[in-house]
Amino acid sequence: MKIFITGGAGFIGSHICEELYNKIPNSKLLILDKVTYAANLKFVSHLVRDKKRVKFIKADIIDSIKYKSQINNFDIAINVAAESHVDRSFRNSILFTKTNTLGAHIFFQTCLEKKVKKIVQVSTDEVYGEKLSGSFSEKNQLNPTNPYSASKAAAEIIIGSYKYHFKSNILIVRGNNIYGKRQFPEKLIPSCITKLIKNKPIEIHGSGKHIRCYLSAKDFAQAIYLLLKKKKRGVFNIGNNIYYKNIEIAEFICKKFKKDKKKYIRFVKDRPFNDRRYSVNINKIKKIGWKPKDSLKFDLDEIIRWYKNNINLFKI
Ligand SMILES: NC(=O)c1ccc[n+]([C@@H]2O[C@H](COP(=O)([O-])OP(=O)(O)OC[C@H]3O[C@@H](n4cnc5c(N)ncnc54)[C@H](O)[C@@H]3O)[C@@H](O)[C@H]2O)c1
Repeated sequence: MKIFITGGAGFIGSHICEELYNKIPNSKLLILDKVTYAANLKFVSHLVRDKKRVKFIKADIIDSIKYKSQINNFDIAINVAAESHVDRSFRNSILFTKTNTLGAHIFFQTCLEKKVKKIVQVSTDEVYGEKLSGSFSEKNQLNPTNPYSASKAAAEIIIGSYKYHFKSNILIVRGNNIYGKRQFPEKLIPSCITKLIKNKPIEIHGSGKHIRCYLSAKDFAQAIYLLLKKKKRGVFNIGNNIYYKNIEIAEFICKKFKKDKKKYIRFVKDRPFNDRRYSVNINKIKKIGWKPKDSLKFDLDEIIRWYKNNINLFKI
């Protein structure tokens, strides 16, 4: 089985590469990554060492010329590559549209031309916008509220439209917040951890009352594997329904470091608009036999240990 994965040297991409490499023993992986600030080749070096099964290309998803000739008749192509940080998207929104929308479109069109059998777009629950109570199902309308989520929603709309004309075999997955090792310390959990490793205060936006759910990168990668194994197409939410306020996460991590939360948590000005709560309904994916196994509270010790040992991998 030949699998093409973009964004494989990043946080979630590297977990997906590991999962497919381990679960599909004869698979061959072609990993493409631009290696932005968020990526590190060390995240996949243990896989790339297996030259018979894994090949790495350093390229921008937009430069299809760099990968076009290598994905002929591939079985699966998974687009994980993205600019992923909401705060950055306010400062450089064009880059987000370029990578997340135009890049996804070029990736998709190239896969079609090269007759890739199955195409997967990794999207986000942020495309729905905020949900103050209840949760969004896959049938709900998209209502993105920032340049990052808008660029992801735009990609979904373009890619989704292909199923009508081309009858393409497309899978779109909308993940909620993901946690795990290798995540760039601009996101809440690794930001809290790395600040405390450096004995600096954690910065929390606004009141810290924004609510998010967190799914492990391993659980997310397993969900994708299962959807592929069961040959599913269409849209699937992937997440869990354990809610945390941002402030709770910061306080919990302070406790792990035995730091006084009053001294080590600082509140900073919030974005002009920040979705107050995200929530996705996961009944559809549960029906195919997937459910989250990991828990953030249980995994935090291991993640903190990883950041203590690998802090030098990040230019922060
Ligand atoms: N992190 C989350 O909580 C979360 C939740 C749901 C969905 N997602 C989605 O999962 C995907 C991966 O997220 P992540 O958190 O690992 O992001 P990340 O920013 O940590 O990693 C993104 C990867 O994409 C690569 N990349 C960026 N621009 C590229 C380009 N033009 N061409 C090729 N490679 C490029 C980067 O080098 C990096 O390896 C994204 O599509 C994101 O929208 C993330």
